[in-house]
Amino acid sequence: MEKRVKGCSSLKGEVAPPGDKSISHRAVILNSIASGKARIANFSSGDDCLAMLSCLRALGVEIIKESGLLTVSGVGKEGFAEPADVLNARNSATTMRLLAGLLAAQPFLSIITGDESLRSRPMARLIHPLRTMGADIWGRGCDSLAPLAIKGGQLRGIDYTSPVASAQLKSAILIAGLFAEGGTTVEEPATSRDHTERMLGAMGADLKRDGLKIALNPPTSLSPIDITIPGDISSAAFWLVAAAIHPNAHITVTKTGINPTRTGIIDVLLQMGAKLRVKNERMEGGEPVADLEVESSELEGTEIGGCIIPRLIDEIPLIALAGSLARGTTTIRDAEELRVKESDRIGATVKELSKLGADIEELPDGMVIHGGRELKGGECHSHHDHRLAMTLGIAGLVAHGETVIYGAEAVDVSYPCFWQDLERLTQ
Ligand code: S3P
Repeated sequence: MEKRVKGCSSLKGEVAPPGDKSISHRAVILNSIASGKARIANFSSGDDCLAMLSCLRALGVEIIKESGLLTVSGVGKEGFAEPADVLNARNSATTMRLLAGLLAAQPFLSIITGDESLRSRPMARLIHPLRTMGADIWGRGCDSLAPLAIKGGQLRGIDYTSPVASAQLKSAILIAGLFAEGGTTVEEPATSRDHTERMLGAMGADLKRDGLKIALNPPTSLSPIDITIPGDISSAAFWLVAAAIHPNAHITVTKTGINPTRTGIIDVLLQMGAKLRVKNERMEGGEPVADLEVESSELEGTEIGGCIIPRLIDEIPLIALAGSLARGTTTIRDAEELRVKESDRIGATVKELSKLGADIEELPDGMVIHGGRELKGGECHSHHDHRLAMTLGIAGLVAHGETVIYGAEAVDVSYPCFWQDLERLTQ
């Protein structure tokens, strides 16, 4: 599907982003392992989370959706059933990696695959620690790629030092650790999003953090928890940047999660001079939530790298767009993980924003963006990557003329009503 976006004269209003994708994944998988019923409100409507639901149903978990509320009947640690067919995580690496942690502990065979993009993403990082814990697990390409075949069984705890700051990898090992004999520790090079740790703690697991290390003692069972999923800051980010770079904008993004492991985008926008206010801070479902108000701003270039990267990893295409319109140069380093996301997000962002007139140099681990450019409409492609499709949509709002985005349906992965929200805010 193609989408045509015209430069707009004003960008105003209020918008509530969809439920957080990462928290939605954890709410269903952890409540499936728990013993008893849990209700989940504001579950993400994106296809990634629907993929997780269908895999869990195939493992024997009853999940019912009624009037916007999801009811998960947790089967307990021993209650999963062998799936009758290959599990399909579609575009969702979170589904594949978190489920691999669960499947590694099950006394049956599972095969899990995904779409073309997911089948090209790195899985060796997951296979090695799960094997060390005692699972039989294999992947295509000498155990580096999906589909994965997993014959699980009794696991033993592991002390694992992760080479990457990846919440998916950390969560997979912690989930496997729930079923293991003995404790499990995971140490990361920098803190990645901590939704799994927060939720496991709220469900009664014995979990401690010491700096970059998390220690888990396997619980006999997990208690189910009812949760209202906060709005996704990674979806809110499109409107934060849109309002900051547009000359006539004022947007309030409501009910948005502001977990400090996710708020790198707020820090960077403030550092660039954005007129952004965090209002009505409160706690919901064990996570901090706020309303975010942003208006047209004069942005300055900035430098980002090091331990802020995991806190804004999904927002880097947007930061490249903000940098293109800011005064001065913006440099992004230490973001090599972007090469192995839904697309090669460094290569794809540079290629597509350049088509609209941005001046960006590609680095192996980031980009140098020469700001102060005027964007002009043109034809560009999402590379089947939801975050790139939406970044190009926002670029279209500030470009002169019309921008055509091919592969615009990719937004369904995390933000199915993105194009409707965009239209509403421009009217
Ligand atoms: C996610 C973790 C991040 C992020 C992804 C969601 C999660 O991936 O990019 O969109 O829910 O755990 P990595 O764990 O690969 O860094």
